[in-house]
Parts: sequence; C-alpha cells; structure tokens
Amino acid sequence: MTIRVLPSTLVNQIAAGEVIERPASALKELVENAIDSGARRIDITLDDGGRVLIAVADDGCGMTADEISLAVERHATSKLADDDLLNIGTLGFRGEALPSIASVARMTIASRAARDGELADAAWALSIEGGKKGEIHPANLRRGTRIEIRDLFYATPARLKFLKTSRTELTHAIDAVKRLAMSRPDIAFTLESEDRTHLRYEANGGDLLDARLARLGEVLGREFTENALPISAEREGIRLTGFAGLPTLNRGNARLQFLFVNGRPVQDRLLSGALRGAYADFLARDRHPLVALFLEAPPGMVDVNVHPAKAEVRFRDSGIVRGLVVGALKHALSEAGHRASTTVADAALGAFQPGRTMPLQGRYGYAPSRPSPGLAEAAATFQSPQSSRSQAGMGALDGFDTPNGAVVIEEDEAREAYPLGAARGQLHETYIISQTSDGIVIVDQHAAHERLVYERMKTALENGGIPRQGLLIPEVVELDEAAVARISDHAHELAELGLAVEAFGANAVVVRETPGPLGHCDVKGLVRDLADELDGLGAGRALRERLQDVAATMACHGSVRAGRRLAGSEMDALLREMEATPHSGQCNHGRPTYVELKLADIEKLFGRR
Ligand SMILES: Nc1ncnc2c1ncn2[C@@H]1O[C@H](COP(=O)(O)OP(=O)(O)O)[C@@H](O)[C@H]1O
Ligand SMILES: [Mg+2]
Repeated sequence: MTIRVLPSTLVNQIAAGEVIERPASALKELVENAIDSGARRIDITLDDGGRVLIAVADDGCGMTADEISLAVERHATSKLADDDLLNIGTLGFRGEALPSIASVARMTIASRAARDGELADAAWALSIEGGKKGEIHPANLRRGTRIEIRDLFYATPARLKFLKTSRTELTHAIDAVKRLAMSRPDIAFTLESEDRTHLRYEANGGDLLDARLARLGEVLGREFTENALPISAEREGIRLTGFAGLPTLNRGNARLQFLFVNGRPVQDRLLSGALRGAYADFLARDRHPLVALFLEAPPGMVDVNVHPAKAEVRFRDSGIVRGLVVGALKHALSEAGHRASTTVADAALGAFQPGRTMPLQGRYGYAPSRPSPGLAEAAATFQSPQSSRSQAGMGALDGFDTPNGAVVIEEDEAREAYPLGAARGQLHETYIISQTSDGIVIVDQHAAHERLVYERMKTALENGGIPRQGLLIPEVVELDEAAVARISDHAHELAELGLAVEAFGANAVVVRETPGPLGHCDVKGLVRDLADELDGLGAGRALRERLQDVAATMACHGSVRAGRRLAGSEMDALLREMEATPHSGQCNHGRPTYVELKLADIEKLFGRR
C-alpha cells in the first residue's frame, strides 16, 4: 500500500465534484464573485445551456496580474481578511470556485484592477486548461473582470454525461441568476444565450424595499407583486423582510419560494418547514405558496460554512428563526382578511374569453355545437332572493327585464359598499351572486361556509374548547374494527373538539354530542371521514396540529352543502361574516371562496372598452 498526496489538479477536480454540479453552479460562483467585487452591472453570455460557453463580465474592482494568478490557486481568497469564519460579509469565502472550475474546463480570466477609483494602466489575462496554467499576458479590457469558461467538464467526462438537455441546463442557469438578482436590486443584470436576451434587469437605486419590490416584479412578474403581502418583522436582532403571496396564489411545487439569509440564496429545511407551518391552515399539503423572504442575522447568529455550494446555513437558535417566520407570515395573512388573489379573477375572465373557449360563428355568436356552458344554464335557473319566496313559480328570466338590463332586486347602496357587496341571487343552489359598487362577486357558498365554521372552531378551541350540542337520539355509526379503535383512541381529543363519541361494541361507535359551530350535520359521514383522517395523520405530529386538521374535516361536514337554497338574508349574513373573518378568501385547501369581477373587466369581455 502506498499513501500519497494527490496532485493538485486531482484535488481540484474532486472539489469540483462537490461545488460544480452543472453549468448553473459554475455560473452561480462567477456571478457571486462579480457581486463580491462591487460590480454595478453584470453581463452573462451562455452557449448551449452553458456547456460550450459561460461568460461573465462585471465592472467591479478587478484584479492585478498577480491577483489573477493567485485567484486560481486552491484556497486563495481575498475575502477572509481577519480569518474569522463567523464574520462573513461576502458571498464567497472558500477560495475554491475558480481552481475547481479551472480544473475541469478551459478558463480565461481577463481583468483590469481599479483601486480607490483609479483604473490600472493595463489589463491582464490568464488561461487555464484542465488545471494547467498558461502564461499571464496583456489583455484588452476597459474595466472590471471577464471570465470565460469553455467546455465545462471536458476533463471529467463522467460528469459530462450527467448533464441534461441544453434547455434544462439553461433553465437552471437562469434560475440561479434570478435568485442572486432578487437579493441585489441595486445591480443591473443581463443574460443572453444564442442571440436571445433572456434576462434584462435594470439597477434600481433608492429605498431598498421599493427597489426590491420592483426587482421581484421583474423576476417573478406582476402576478406575484400584486398578490404578495409585505413582511417586516424582527426578533432578537434577526430581521425578516420581503413578500409573501396570498394563499390562493399557489403552486404544485416549492420552486417559487425564494429564501435569502444575509443576501445569500439558501435552500433551508428549517425555513421551508416554517413556511409550511405558517400556511398550513390555508393550503392543502400538496400546494405551495410563493414567497421571497430575506433574513438578516447578525454575525455569530448564523453559520454559512455548512455546505460546499454555500446553499445551506445553520442558525444558532433555530427556535427564534422559526418563530419569527411563522409569526410574521401568520400576522400578515390574517391582516389580509378575506382578500383572495387577483389571479383568481384573471383565471375566471380567461375562462370567459369567447375566443379562447368557444369558437365564434359568423357575427351571431357562439357555435351551436358548443353553447356557452355556464351562462345559459345559469340564466335559466336563476333564483333571486325574493323569488325564492314564490319558489319555482317565478320566471327564471324575470329579473332581466329591468330598464338598465341588470337584475335589481332592491336598491341598497349601503350594502353594495361592503367589500363583498349585496347578495343579488343564488345560482344552482351553490353560488351566491352579489353586486359591489364596481363589480360582481361570485361566492362558492360551501367553500365559504366551511372556512367560516373552521375559523369559528379554531377560535373556540383557543378559548378553551368547542361547545357541544346534545343529540336527541344518539346516533350509532357502524365502522370496521380498526376504525372503531382509532376513534376511541382519540375520543379525548374529539371531545375537546365538541364530538362526544365512544365505542359501541366492536363494530360501531355511538355519538351523543356534536360540535356546536357545525349546526346540523351529517353525523355518519363526519365520523367515517374522521376515522379515515385519523388513519392518515400518523402518530408523530403535534397534538395541536392534529386538532386543527380534525377541525377542518369537521368544518367540511357541518358546512352549508352545495345544493342548499338560501334566503336573501342568509346570503347577506354569510357575506358579512366572510368580511369579518380572517382568511375567509380561501377554503381550507387554498382554493378561493369567491371570485370578484370588476365591471371594467366585464365591459372588456363585451368589447365595450
Ligand atoms: N469577478 C471578480 N472580480 C474581482 N475579483 C475576483 C473576481 N472573481 C474572483 N476574484 C478573486 O478571486 C478570488 C478567488 O475566487 P473564488 O475561487 O471564487 O473564491 P472566493 O470567492 O471564495 O474567494 C476571490 O477571493 C477574489 O479575490
Ligand atoms: Mg467565489
């Protein structure tokens, strides 16, 4: 056996295996270096998703000839001036990226140093191929640094094989730049590939929060900034700022969750867990909110030296951080009250767009083979609150004969001034239609009521338990043995939720009392669903969280089911309660409880604008 010290190129290639996974990771390191150099603008060029070329040019402090030569040596860095790993103010600090990349690719660095605003007389360049350094030579560069990486992984063919299609690699690269761009709105970024400009962000000066919102709008789009709540909170010296999307703006994966710690994009379990906790009440488990959150922690509170790619951090006190994130988000979400995202209305209007869903025929309207699905039927079964007194006797379209063409049941401007307006009717015994001062609102009565009952139950839970109502005749519900066991195991918690239930032989349970806030409920359905729910919950979760899940299942059963006809006063009462109840803009699964269409948008549908 011979033990030997590995040659440095091999050492660097091993390090590259950790740090440089794909073109996007090399690009991330170069852009981080450019940011650390004090650049005001960073221009990126990629070819073939970054396999053929990754070039990053900046206007930062640059390097002298000696510095260029040192920069590609292993563990050479200018960023740990006082050797203090706990006090890191830059994105880089490991002195590893350039030598690692240079060991697996062909790299050229050109740079012109600037010190105290004075540009050096000359620019210098150095090429390294598969770790072999060339000669330093004069170069032509006005300022800053330009680093080109060609043929990434040519020297490590095994890694090369793992690359995905150019498109996929390009997407990863763009994502990496977007993340960094979000945290530095004061820097301009461009990214080009194959003569196409993929990103062009202007530098935003001035107030950081305004600049950040503007940049987030550029990166994530108007949809995000319009439907995001500003977050600002502080706990024990740790500051949290940024924006959190309304629950109704959600996605099937967590890719649009951007988390930063001291300006560094991170993927952090603790933080994603805190996010899940904050939204648990508003979103189904498989839906994810959109957020961009920035934590600033004083040095010493956070350790960034955890992960070779610097994507993870460790907090000294994770409890404080979790509490800060959960608290701030919950607060913002309850302040948002019954607000649902505008995307809901956009989607609804999109569905109405005649051209998109239904082909036009001649100038007369829609093709007979595909009649306007919802609207005609809706009109035919239109049921106004007043006509519900005479029930089916009223002609369905009577209401449309008023002079201004709208269904006017009673003039009541005061009610219309409410955010959710005045109830005007019920369609399909499922949707409440109301009129606001500048639009119409369509409420899904079941979803809305479910949310209201759930919020009532939560409030009651927090205030010492949910009141119960006795059943005149106890109800026996037949279940299989395992389900009976699950229910009786949890009888105590269920009682706290207002459901008095006990085993009744081996194959049934008997229910004597039900939760007050549910009103009349379908006891059999409720108990069966609870038995299933308890099965899915697993044992490890916190009691409190489980109680809330169970409360949600209960709320679903006690709610005004779709299909129940409501009187006008009942509808108005529902609307007023929604306005007064936090989180009532979405049901317990993150679906909206109502859609608001502005008159201005409706007019557009009819080409009146
Ligand atoms: N774009 C740049 N502008 C100025 N200096 C740079 C640039 N890129 C790299 N450097 C210098 O090269 C050094 C090594 O870079 P790197 O290998 O990424 O390690 P680190 O960023 O951890 O210091 C940096 O510390 C910095 O001094
Ligand atoms: Mg670096």
